[in-house]
Amino acid sequence: MLENLQQQPPDKILQLMQMYREDPRDTKIDLGVGVYKNAQGVTPIMRAVKAAEKRLWESETTKAYTALAGDAGFHKVMRELVLADSVAPERVAAAATPGGTGAIHMVLELIKMAGPDATVWLSAPTWPNHPSIIRHLGMKMAEYRYFDNTSRAVDFEGMLADLKTVKAGDVVLLHGCCHNPTGANLNQTQWEQVADVLLERGAIPFIDIAYQGFGDGLDQDAAAVRMLAGRMPEMLIAASCSKNFGVYRERTGIVLAIAPDADTRATTQGNLAHLNRQNFSFPPDHGARLVTIILSDDELRADWMAELEDVRLGMLTIRQQLADELQRLSGSDRFAFIAQHRGMFSRMGATPEQVVELREKHGIYMVGDSRINIAGLNETTVPILARALIDVGV
Ligand code: LMR
Repeated sequence: MLENLQQQPPDKILQLMQMYREDPRDTKIDLGVGVYKNAQGVTPIMRAVKAAEKRLWESETTKAYTALAGDAGFHKVMRELVLADSVAPERVAAAATPGGTGAIHMVLELIKMAGPDATVWLSAPTWPNHPSIIRHLGMKMAEYRYFDNTSRAVDFEGMLADLKTVKAGDVVLLHGCCHNPTGANLNQTQWEQVADVLLERGAIPFIDIAYQGFGDGLDQDAAAVRMLAGRMPEMLIAASCSKNFGVYRERTGIVLAIAPDADTRATTQGNLAHLNRQNFSFPPDHGARLVTIILSDDELRADWMAELEDVRLGMLTIRQQLADELQRLSGSDRFAFIAQHRGMFSRMGATPEQVVELREKHGIYMVGDSRINIAGLNETTVPILARALIDVGV
């Protein structure tokens, strides 16, 4: 039987990680996978996470199962972190999942059960795993225009025009903040206009929010999702704690499903628990519990927020340094977009050939669409990247 299996196409981001590992040059620079690194190239365990782990180790008395949809305390702190008071808690169903990807998978399965004919609309471009999971689940998908390759900003006119063609009951996947892979984001007015169109068309927003706190701040990064939650009768959210709590390998994510009323919420909650049971039974608990401890304790929460803010400001500084250096070297403003983008990523607008040349000649690893991980840079490597970009003709 197993001989019937076909090779799967490699995941481009994970493939790049492998190539980087195998490169013997000690001058190589990894701007690939979206993992935060400090100036020393280390992905640190956040102070509050370490402290929460100590507390948990001292106080935890059992490893028996949690609830099927995960711990209710985790649901509450995450609902508050993402949605604040934008929507009545009685309308929000929740389930802990293995990471943000687990949440995306689960939301898509829920859509498949509730609206088997729905088309899921994706931004062009989007995180490659979005279409990959949709294809795996055999669902319908379509693209809306999002990124203007020339200005490296959002093609908002194109986006709105495409969203005006979605059908009632279709689902529109939007990045809540820090768009991956482009780094280009909507402003608040544009988000309002998107909400108008979705309401008019009877479409359901599906928000993937994996970088809350990495863009303009914890609350600012959730402003769009909260605005939508206040206006839309239904909304689906996949949130990740991998990045903003730095708990990548603990696989900590959550589905928040906003239902029109309390009855529908109860049915949705039952379906989320059912999906967990079918897929993996009880969700992982360790990371979720750390997040719950941190968000429920004033001191740990304040320390976590301070460290996250340092991470965010550090990435903004690197953005500005890179934009300045490229302006100096190129004598033009064509790289100013780097300082305007937000989050961990920016799409540089290099051709696939230039991306290969950057890797082979300069040992600089970026995703094939020329997405760079800003956190992979530091003061020493910013000028190296800038010179290399100019050298290959970007
Ligand atoms: C990324 O886009 O690099 C991250 O979300 C990590 C991943 O799993 O692809």
